[in-house]
Amino acid sequence: MSQESIALRAAGISKNFGPVHALRGVEVELRSGEVTALMGENGAGKSTLLKILNGDYRPDGGSLEIDGRPVEFSDPSDARRAGLRVIAQEPEIIAAVSVAENIFVGDLGGVGFNRRALIERTRTELRRWGFDRALRADALGSDLSPAQRQLVEIMRAVVSRPRIICFDEPTSSLGDEEVALLFSLIRQLQDDGVAVAYVSHRMAEIFQLADRITVLRDGAFVGTKRVSETDHDDLVRMMVGRDLEKFFHRDRAALGETVLELIGVGNEHVTDVDLTVRAGEVVGVAGLVGAGRSELMKTIAGDYPATAGRIVVSGEVRSIRQPSDSIRAGIGFAPEERKAEALLLQRSVRDNAALVVLKSLARWIFVRGRAERALAQEYIQRLRIRTPSSEQLVGNLSGGNQQKVVLARWLATKPRLLLLDEPTRGIDVGAKSEIYAIIDELAHQGVAVIVVSSELPEILGVSDRIYVMSDGRISGELDRKDATEERILALAMNDISA
Ligand SMILES: Nc1ncnc2c1ncn2[C@@H]1O[C@H](COP(=O)(O)OP(=O)(O)OP(=O)(O)O)[C@@H](O)[C@H]1O
Ligand SMILES: [Mg+2]
Repeated sequence: MSQESIALRAAGISKNFGPVHALRGVEVELRSGEVTALMGENGAGKSTLLKILNGDYRPDGGSLEIDGRPVEFSDPSDARRAGLRVIAQEPEIIAAVSVAENIFVGDLGGVGFNRRALIERTRTELRRWGFDRALRADALGSDLSPAQRQLVEIMRAVVSRPRIICFDEPTSSLGDEEVALLFSLIRQLQDDGVAVAYVSHRMAEIFQLADRITVLRDGAFVGTKRVSETDHDDLVRMMVGRDLEKFFHRDRAALGETVLELIGVGNEHVTDVDLTVRAGEVVGVAGLVGAGRSELMKTIAGDYPATAGRIVVSGEVRSIRQPSDSIRAGIGFAPEERKAEALLLQRSVRDNAALVVLKSLARWIFVRGRAERALAQEYIQRLRIRTPSSEQLVGNLSGGNQQKVVLARWLATKPRLLLLDEPTRGIDVGAKSEIYAIIDELAHQGVAVIVVSSELPEILGVSDRIYVMSDGRISGELDRKDATEERILALAMNDISA
């Protein structure tokens, strides 16, 4: 490739946060018309690098060049003027205004502001990028789903026609359909000669999208390869520094009593759900985004009380009206929106890992036992939580490491029934296989586990039995030995065509 095609070059980039060396001499080149994937374990420094490119942070060392000319950004508006946009993982959406205003925020120009023209312009943009069926220009910010919020964040970047665009785990809140929209948008950007950087922990996406892959480990630059020169195992080795054992460790455990039985359970989110889980069993719940999987978990956990049917826990009908009722029944729940729902960002890693939360009572019950804490510490090690010490504030950890802290807490508590909603979302490949091993161990210790996941290989890998949901109902049930991706998808699409 010729020199001219390098749109952005970052050389020798370093960044420290106190004693933490987040980046140590990182090298990245982004080429026009190419997708460069940035990969590395949780805490490797990927988001920090993007924040430096965006002008959020000043690097402690190194240099940036755009089109061969040195640049320095002191804030995001500098980066924007240079034609560079970074799409952060967590969209900031203004609730009280429309999608159109959210997209063109900061670009509205006081004088000739004309709402109708703005809506029209937004519609044109949405059509141009193929987002017009997923987003309405006049919808209110407060009415958007997490996936739609992410799409708004993406639109915000592309409408300014940047020449360099960086995505930080853009698919983590997207369903399959929105992922397809995003991928075709990225192809369009490539055709337009835009240089794209793409951070993701999902290998399949990387192999679908990327031309080159740059790997970071512990803040250091490991290397850059063309996608044709590498494969899954090679990338894992580059990221983790070692080979990983077999990815899924499931051995079917001996099944005990029925721990959970739902009989005709329903509320405004789910309808007529029959489901059982036995001690030692791992049950997967599959379905498309919006099928009601998370809502079902929240129904069992007491966030959305059931208004119909019965919930039977270990043979006893329980009234689960609020989260404290489910905790008392021995049910642990690691929700999907971990940061919002489960973490105390201003407290330490140790406190968060050793804490069981009773949200509804608006007070905290601290499980202070020494044994609990030691257990939490053990899980912190097993999940490779990258933190300078267990006293670090959780708010200062990388996104994936925050996820790991919540999971460590729940995995360490050994409830009777454990509900895990998207347990490996945002989590790196090394910790993923460790989480599967822990789920397997818990099953062998007689814990009943329900795993919700959008990743079919994961559902197929961890589950003994799989329920598929569609439109708030159970649309089918498959034993592990009969389950395939095709059969799950067919059941998941059940009501969509109707
Ligand atoms: N504001 C901060 N204060 C202290 N440490 C920080 C801060 N921001 C990041 N770090 C640390 O810098 C390191 C790199 O974090 P970064 O967010 O870049 O990781 P990442 O590769 O994006 O990980 P993930 O895959 O989990 O998102 C981590 O050890 C993190 O704890
Ligand atoms: Mg990150």
